[in-house]
Amino acid sequence: MTQPGRRISGFKPTGHMQFGNYVGAIRPTVEGQHAQPTVVFVADLHALTVTHDPHELRELSLEAAGLLLAAGLDPRRTLLYRQSDLPAHTELHYLLECVASYGEVHRMIQFKEKGGGSGTRLSLLTYPVLMAADILLHDIVEVPVGRDQRQHVELTRDIALRFNERYGPALTVPHAVHPPVAARLADLADPTAKMGKTNASTNGVLFLLDPPDVLRRKIMRAVTDGGTEVAYDPERKPGVSNLIDLISACTGDDSDRIAADHGTYGALKATAVDAVLAVAEPLQRRYNELSEEDIEETLRAGAERASERADATVQRVKEAIGLTSARRAPAGSRGTPRTAPAPR
Ligand code: AMP
Ligand code: TRP
Repeated sequence: MTQPGRRISGFKPTGHMQFGNYVGAIRPTVEGQHAQPTVVFVADLHALTVTHDPHELRELSLEAAGLLLAAGLDPRRTLLYRQSDLPAHTELHYLLECVASYGEVHRMIQFKEKGGGSGTRLSLLTYPVLMAADILLHDIVEVPVGRDQRQHVELTRDIALRFNERYGPALTVPHAVHPPVAARLADLADPTAKMGKTNASTNGVLFLLDPPDVLRRKIMRAVTDGGTEVAYDPERKPGVSNLIDLISACTGDDSDRIAADHGTYGALKATAVDAVLAVAEPLQRRYNELSEEDIEETLRAGAERASERADATVQRVKEAIGLTSARRAPAGSRGTPRTAPAPR
């Protein structure tokens, strides 16, 4: 049997983690870690591409790591570290900037959507190259991402292929995988919008660390639809269907079954409260047991472990590019004589 490919996931600390992150990314990563070697990192350098508060960034990075651990990520099996703790990310980023072209990076949809003004941080333009470095550092084979990130993984492939063609095969060429998302959760106050950690209003966003009474209130105030019938029909009944998705994501129950079991919107909301609290309460309990020092120590040890492979990749890339001698003299010797160019 072939060894399953190594995977990587990055979590950007730009806001508090919410239920969409849990069902769409945290839980699949935790569940997959036993079948496949996995690298997970807190992408704090990526959070610097937009306005940020330094104190908050540090807190959000620790929160993200703590929630991953509380959700069952096993740091002995899975590499877990903070991006800025591993200098190889920024070193490879620059080296790959010398392989990527302005044209291909400028075409990225996310930059077109978010950037553009003259005050836009330059890092927002180059961020896909940093993402390529994140992936290529670890000889990653599979990158599980949402559709919005597919283009960035394609760019990573292009950069790796070009590098290998130009300088020799130093980089593993990865590909994107799109695991079927258990549910794409919508904002409870606006079922046409995605539940997101940076949504302008937090009324319809269930944060993983919201106190139970806040979670209950947000669910009980969720926007439902006209009529009274409980049915799973995302087109006609987006609000009710989103509550069903939420329950299904938490319990694993079938959507139509959930619909059939509930006679009123009120009963459906009550079940959603129970389902969400059954996930959130144990998660919060485990999170609260972790001290800041524990999390810092886990991240530090993770970065140290990650540096072995990451530093080797950077070394390989530097040698291929011509920045360091490919053959280092063994200690104590006078060095290998430089081979004279072959006569032509
Ligand atoms: P973000 O918070 O946008 O950086 O996303 C981090 C990860 O969580 C990505 O894998 C997203 O696909 C996933 N995710 C974020 N929000 C949702 C949502 N509302 N439903 C499902 N997955 C989500
Ligand atoms: N760009 C990703 C996002 O916005 C986060 C990310 C950064 C990432 N580096 C990565 C994801 C490497 C996978 C692999 O969600």
